[in-house]
Amino acid sequence: MKQEISLKLATMQGLVLCPYLVVTADKQAGSGINICVVSYLGVVNENPPLIGLSIRPSRYSAKLIAETAEFTVNLPTPELLAAIDYCGTYSGRKIDKAARLQLDVFPSRIISVPGLAKSPIVFECRLQQIIKFAAKKSSHYFYIGQVVNAVRDMGYRLEKNNQLATTNYDYRIVAQSLGKAHKICTSNSGGKKHAIPRKKIS
Ligand SMILES: Cc1cc2nc3c(=O)[nH]c(=O)nc-3n(C[C@H](O)[C@H](O)[C@H](O)COP(=O)(O)O)c2cc1C
Repeated sequence: MKQEISLKLATMQGLVLCPYLVVTADKQAGSGINICVVSYLGVVNENPPLIGLSIRPSRYSAKLIAETAEFTVNLPTPELLAAIDYCGTYSGRKIDKAARLQLDVFPSRIISVPGLAKSPIVFECRLQQIIKFAAKKSSHYFYIGQVVNAVRDMGYRLEKNNQLATTNYDYRIVAQSLGKAHKICTSNSGGKKHAIPRKKIS
């Protein structure tokens, strides 16, 4: 039997999210950058590759993205958890988070905002569009960035490492593969995607 749950928490309880570290340029900060955490985020287009981030416009990072039109999106890892929780709790309006955490950065190739050295996959993004949702008093704006360059640590394989996720404010590890997409439903049809499965799907 299904039970109705609070609308406010429905998305957080029903979805597993991944808390990415978003680096922006910050002229005020000694380090020259600001870092926040965004888990309402995802791929929204393949060609060109676009990443969408839902950010409250009141966030300092939202202001910096709108001003500079550049940011990097940095894959979180369990090792970065303390930095993630810090950057997702305190605003860069008052603290230079990067300097406080002494997080090493490395220069991007195309944009001027750096990536985080400890992050195994980093996307360089140029702001394409800001979408303000039609709903009255909507909490977030949607910032769409085009991925103009992406780097990965040599030898790093996402599927071989524990992936950090969050659900309902709880940090989790996604550790186990259950099978490849498109392969599970086609296993009865000799791996052919458009063949109709011979057996009943269990
Ligand atoms: C796990 C986690 C996920 C978060 N996801 C989002 C998000 O998707 N969108 C958002 O606007 N804020 C999100 N936040 C909150 C911001 O990261 C936080 O308010 C941060 O302090 C903003 O920093 P800034 O003011 O320097 O930009 C998240 C925080 C945590 C801890």
